[in-house]
Amino acid sequence: MDKLLIEGGSRLQGTVQISGAKNSAVALIPATILADSPVTIDQLPNISDVRILCKLLREIGGTVSFEEHTFVVDPRNMVDMPLPNGSVKRLRASYYLMGAMLGRFHKAVIGLPGGCNLGPRPIDQHIKGFEALGAKVTNERGAIYLRANSLHGARIYLDVVSVGATINIMLAAVKAEGQTIIENAAKEPEIIDVATLLTSMGAKIKGAGTDVIRIEGVHELHGCRHMIIPDRIEAGTFMVAGAAVSDNLLIDNVIPQHVEPLTAKLREIGADVQVGEDQVFVSRSRMPLKSADVKTLVYPGFPTDLQQPLTSLLTQAEGTSIITDTIYGARFKHIDELRRMGADVKVEGRSAILSGPTPLEGAKVRATDLRAGASLIIAGLMARGITEIVGVEHIDRGYDHIMEKLQGVGANIWREPMRDEEARESLKEQE
Ligand code: EPU
Repeated sequence: MDKLLIEGGSRLQGTVQISGAKNSAVALIPATILADSPVTIDQLPNISDVRILCKLLREIGGTVSFEEHTFVVDPRNMVDMPLPNGSVKRLRASYYLMGAMLGRFHKAVIGLPGGCNLGPRPIDQHIKGFEALGAKVTNERGAIYLRANSLHGARIYLDVVSVGATINIMLAAVKAEGQTIIENAAKEPEIIDVATLLTSMGAKIKGAGTDVIRIEGVHELHGCRHMIIPDRIEAGTFMVAGAAVSDNLLIDNVIPQHVEPLTAKLREIGADVQVGEDQVFVSRSRMPLKSADVKTLVYPGFPTDLQQPLTSLLTQAEGTSIITDTIYGARFKHIDELRRMGADVKVEGRSAILSGPTPLEGAKVRATDLRAGASLIIAGLMARGITEIVGVEHIDRGYDHIMEKLQGVGANIWREPMRDEEARESLKEQE
């Protein structure tokens, strides 16, 4: 087990290449189960969530290669093997195996998903969708059992706008008999990306990216080649790092429209952000940063996944900032760690309230989830002295070579193996 060390104070300068989107990747890979010939996906991020999904596809009989960011799968020999335990429990997105296996085999057994601990993360809307399509769904000893004699189209209104439920219902519905309509669907770019892959495979989907998605079931889906979209959250994380400590940071391979809410917020705070065709250029202005209020919302609102990284930056803004997370009310586990580093911040209900600016000092801190890890890296870049981050496995789940990318633009960041007693303590805290 490694820990990540950062010596703060370096100014970032240069170009960072953004990888493929994690939250697309974890849905695109299960989607390939539905094809009856090989599928190639280009530019997949090399992160542990992707590697676990490759392993799961192999477990059910797929032939998978993942080299140089290109993923090739032959799904022909896959079988409806139950996956109640093991790797499925290690990632949240294993729930997409439910929709994909239900769509292909009309049955699936999938252990209840793990992933980041952000408070309660129900999947009732996914289940409501599967049931509407004709599946019988039961929860037996921590695994979800799905069975259907046949799947038929249905009209499904989501009570909560959910990325996962929207994609999962699409996966199960593309091969159902007749028309499915998903109302109050989520509109995130990752949903459009999954719909694009499925369409290239032969599915008939209209309206992805709007709140009504119409799917006409087909009997067969075939292989294809697909290029994943860039990761807007990784891009956003580097934009925040740029606003915190860069003279000029060029973030390459971005769809600027996907990061618009962050671009607007960073300009409001006082950072210099220039937008090109597929690049964003960010630098810390010489003026003091201004405080801001931020509320996370479903797309195209401010993304919950960037709330934690932005909090670190706002410790350096003058005055009081309030960050409210309306999606995950308990996504504040980074706050105690930022306080250890000297931030003046408290949590009240679904909001973090910051007073700034406060100088940050390097400290030993724990990444409790993926984006908490990103927020601590940004805090470490701004802090005086050395910050030691444990819980790096959370960061490795979703950021492709973040240490190397930061080193490439001048950050003083490195990994060291944990000492035995640190590793023991870390395992104890994870239990
Ligand atoms: N919700 C329900 N019932 C459901 C599904 C969701 O009540 O059946 C609630 C959730 O509890 C939450 C809200 O609806 O309050 C939104 O959840 P959503 O389903 O949209 O989230 P998700 O699909 O579980 C994905 C990303 C998250 C990201 C959210 C919001 C993946 C694998 N995960 O989660 O990404 O925060 O959408 O955009 O795509 C991350 O990347 O760090 C991460 C956690």
